[in-house]
Amino acid sequence: MRVLPGPDDVARAVADEFVARAERAIGEHGVFRVALAGGSTPKLAYRRLAEPELARLVDWSRCQVFFGDERSVSPDDDRSNFKMANDALLSRVPIPEGHVHRVKGELSADEAALLYEQELGDEPLDLVLLGMGDDGHTLSLFPGRPELDEAERRVVPGTAPVEPRARVSLTLRTVSEAHCDLFVVTGGGKAARVAEVLREIAADEPTFPAARIRPKSGELIFHLDEPAAATLHAD
Ligand code: 6PG
Repeated sequence: MRVLPGPDDVARAVADEFVARAERAIGEHGVFRVALAGGSTPKLAYRRLAEPELARLVDWSRCQVFFGDERSVSPDDDRSNFKMANDALLSRVPIPEGHVHRVKGELSADEAALLYEQELGDEPLDLVLLGMGDDGHTLSLFPGRPELDEAERRVVPGTAPVEPRARVSLTLRTVSEAHCDLFVVTGGGKAARVAEVLREIAADEPTFPAARIRPKSGELIFHLDEPAAATLHAD
């Protein structure tokens, strides 16, 4: 776990982690397979990574970019995780077009999940960036949803309790096979849930989806800002 003063510090730390892991993966096996998180938190990190001083450190021609989850909306919809990442990062770096594996949000979630699962393949991801909602969801795996317990498929259609409800998400299986699962959580609004999730992980008694992220042999890292970590020292 890394606790940094504020969102900008977290963004820089996440961007640095991306650069380091890209260099290591490309050095070790010639490619860096990364799944980007959606939502709003990672936007700062993507913008930071797109800045020349960091972007030039990544061999983008050896990167394969996936998405942890997507909303079933078109890629030009402001709610699209692809659009957020494309605007903040992917359109600003020299990554070959065929190396960005967009979930086709314009299709039905069932169809998009099947197509995306084929594109993802069965090679483990080197890095999965993850956000967490204040209800303890991550990716598009929400509390109480059956897709949480999917043990075979690597990508599933899902349902969110908020619009847009139709989603596509990596499964816990896929994330457990990754070399590194990196949560990026900022803001005091999530502090209580962060503390609960970390307690559940420590006790190995997960109930929240975010507490069920368990790399089999990879690393599990939390990058938090001080407001999000505020209640960690309470007990
Ligand atoms: C999504 C995300 C989701 C997100 C959390 C946190 O599609 O919404 O993948 O899992 O990471 O909801 O979102 P914020 O970063 O906006 O708080």
